[in-house]
Formats: sequence, structure tokens, C-alpha cells
Amino acid sequence: MKPVKVGLLGLGTVGTGVVRIVEGNQEDLSRQVGSPIIIEKIAVKNIDKYRSIEVDGAKLTEDPWEVIRDPDIDIIIEVMGGVDQTKEYILEALERGKHIVTANKDLMALHGSEVLAKAQEKQCDVFYEASVAGGIPIIRTLIEGFSSDRITRIMGIVNGTTNFILTKMSQEGASYEEVLKEAQELGYAEADPTSDVEGLDAARKMAILGTLGFRSDVELKDVSVSGISKVTSEDIAFAKKLGYEMKLLGIAERQGDEFTINVQPTMVRKQHPLASVNGVFNAVYVHGEAVGETMFYGAGAGEMPTATSVVADLVAVVKNLKLGVNGLKAIVPYNPKKISNDED
Ligand code: NDP
Ligand code: HSE
Repeated sequence: MKPVKVGLLGLGTVGTGVVRIVEGNQEDLSRQVGSPIIIEKIAVKNIDKYRSIEVDGAKLTEDPWEVIRDPDIDIIIEVMGGVDQTKEYILEALERGKHIVTANKDLMALHGSEVLAKAQEKQCDVFYEASVAGGIPIIRTLIEGFSSDRITRIMGIVNGTTNFILTKMSQEGASYEEVLKEAQELGYAEADPTSDVEGLDAARKMAILGTLGFRSDVELKDVSVSGISKVTSEDIAFAKKLGYEMKLLGIAERQGDEFTINVQPTMVRKQHPLASVNGVFNAVYVHGEAVGETMFYGAGAGEMPTATSVVADLVAVVKNLKLGVNGLKAIVPYNPKKISNDED
């Protein structure tokens, strides 16, 4: 059985989890796809950095192009983050016929249409399950599970860092700064945590969920955003007294052909299932005209939960390779969009 060779861009929190799963579950993964899966090359920023896992030094490079241009590599896993330069790497990899798995919501929210159009042109897969809600397979669910329905509402706690902060402030009276530091140490926060606490990370994820759920081309500018940096312990205690929990909630609603998407700190009534989503956990509530209410819950960030989604995407790409059907499931938004606060 010819091995499938994979190039990994990034060996930080998520990349480390990917290596652990691919190596640790190798036997089970090979049985599922009918070939061994080998991580052939890994791009990092600093080759001399201490790593919590053992990696063959010969596989490491500080030049991502070396990974992209390697003719033996069939699939690129992008878990290094960044937007403009990373988009160049991904477009070039697609140009060369390589399939992509990415956890990069910044890239997908800003340039998803361009990346997916290129993928379709080159008949390549681009899968990005880990970009929203870490270990919860919500993207696959929206694309496949609800393809038969018309989704009218998506509400999500989709940022683990802010939920971790709000939970600790609510339950332990901890200070905002102290908990943010803890979230960074645990690998939940983005390289620049401003995007977590100011709601931008959640906005990007809601733009992706809106695009897929409403089958419409939602752009980041369509999402109104307000983060948690101004939420005080007093606000949280006051909300609790009234019977509410404070959550950073993304709310996407469709009425007819129009939709609105907002991300903001929200007082959620204690009886609502979203109120008891605590710590780094995420939850996405989806309402469809036919299915009614559904809710999906799980770890929204961190090494192993996120890597679970990345490696599941990898397995899906390899299965498609075996069947010769790559590129057939790329979702390119096609509906004209109508946003109720749109000026034109
Ligand atoms: P980290 O900062 O932990 O890791 C980034 C990795 O990329 C590091 O190994 C770093 O190298 C490498 N890297 C960065 N820039 C370059 C470059 N220019 N050239 C080569 N290598 C580079 O990030 P995470 O693992 O936390 O996140 C990765 C991606 O996954 C991001 O897009 C993030 O938004 C997304 N994500 C993260 C989640 C999480 O829980 N952390 C959850 C879901 C998605 P070095 O190790 O040498 O510094
Ligand atoms: N920083 C993100 C979060 C990582 O806290 O949810 C997962 O996308």
C-alpha cells in the first residue's frame, strides 16, 4: 500500500495534536483509508524551539515553500495561522493539485470564496472543520446534515477563550487579566488574544456558519461585533442576581431572504441550555424550519479536540483520493445575499 504523504504547516498547539493523533492512531487510520498516512515535512518558525513531542529533525524546515513545492506531498495541513502570506501558500498548493485541510477561520472568513473557487477549478478538497467550534463537527453538520432544511437561526458560543474567562469570572470571581493569561497558557487564545476578547474570532466563525447555514455569501463586514473586554465582574454578578449568565453569543437570523448576524455579550436566562455551557466548551444551537431545534456541544479549542477535527478532515480527503472524487464537495456560496442593515 503506497503511503499518503502529508505536509504540515505549523507545529504549535494544534499541529502538535495532529502529530500525536496521526502517529498514535496510525493503525486505525490506515485501516479506515487503506494506506499508511505519513507526515513527510513540517514547517515551523523556529527549528530550534523546544517541542513537547519528539519529531525527526530532518522533517522540520523554516521554509513553508519547501513543503508546498514537495512533489511527493499530496495533502497540506495548514495550522500555522495568518492570512495574507498563508493564503499565498494555500493558493499555490492548490495550483499544484494538493488538497488542503485548515483550522484557519481568519483565512476562511476573509478569503474562503477565493480559496474554494480555486479548489473547485483544480478539483481539490479544502476542508476546514476545525475552524469553527474546535472539536464539534458543526461544519459537516451544516453542509450535509441540514442540506434538506432551511435554517432560520444559528446561535453560538463559538469562542472558547472568552467563555473560559466569563465562566471563571462568574464562578470563581477571578479577574479578567488573570484568566486571560491562563487561557493563553492552555493554548486556547489566538496569537493576538485581542481577536478573542474583542469578539472578532467569534465574528469570523459566525460568518462561516452564516455562509454555510444560509447558503449565502456572508462577509465579515456583515457581522456586527462587540467583545467582552468591557464586561466587569459587577456586570456578571448583577446578571446572575437577575437569573442570567453572561455569554459572548453569536446570533445569526434569517427572515425571508434577509439575514442579520451579531456577536455580543448577552445575558442568557439560566434555564436556557446555552447558559450552562462553561469553560472552554462551545455550543451551537441551530433552528431549521423542518427539523426545529437542535444543539451541538463540545470542546471549542485546545490541542486534542481541535486536532480531532483536523485529522477527521484528513481522513475525508484521503478517502476521496481513493475514490477519485476530490473537489466534488467544495462549497462555493452561490446565493445573492441580502442583509437587513445593508445600505445598497
Ligand atoms: P500556535 O501559535 O500554537 O502555532 C503556530 C505554529 O505555526 C507554530 O508551530 C509556529 O512555529 C508555526 N509558524 C507560525 N508562523 C510561521 C511561519 N511564517 N513559517 C513557518 N511556521 C510558522 O497556533 P495554534 O496551533 O494555536 O493555531 C494554529 C491555527 O489553528 C490558527 O489558525 C488558529 O486560529 C487555529 N485554531 C486554533 C485553535 C486552538 O485551540 N489553539 C482551535 C481552532 C483553530 P514555531 O513553533 O516555531 O513557533
Ligand atoms: N482562540 C479560539 C477560541 C481558538 O478561543 O475559541 C479556537 O478557534
